[in-house]
Amino acid sequence: MSDERLLCRLEDIVDGKSKGFAGPDGSFIGLFAVRQGVAVHVFVNSCPHIGVPLDMLPDRFLDGPGRMIVCAVHGAYFRIQDGFCTAGPCAGDSLEKVPSRVDETGQVWVPLDAGA
Ligand code: FES
Repeated sequence: MSDERLLCRLEDIVDGKSKGFAGPDGSFIGLFAVRQGVAVHVFVNSCPHIGVPLDMLPDRFLDGPGRMIVCAVHGAYFRIQDGFCTAGPCAGDSLEKVPSRVDETGQVWVPLDAGA
């Protein structure tokens, strides 16, 4: 579909882990995805605290047990299912969740302008 772009294949993300992606051409803001089985949760890689990327190390968006998204800059914690911040300097705010779908061939799609 022309209003979507291919993010990756489901198998490109290890189950229970996260992965960062570039935004659309010309964008400085990237995306990241967390895989939970056949479900993928995609977010704009911008912390609601001060608007910087959450990862200091590539693809590292989760806490040790992989239960929460964590911002490496000041330690805010976010729920994986909806990006709501439960602790940290931006508690009560949320990451921007990006609608995504996994098609029958295992390809993960996001809106064309996600992260623009
Ligand atoms: S920039 Fe993310 S918690 Fe401060």
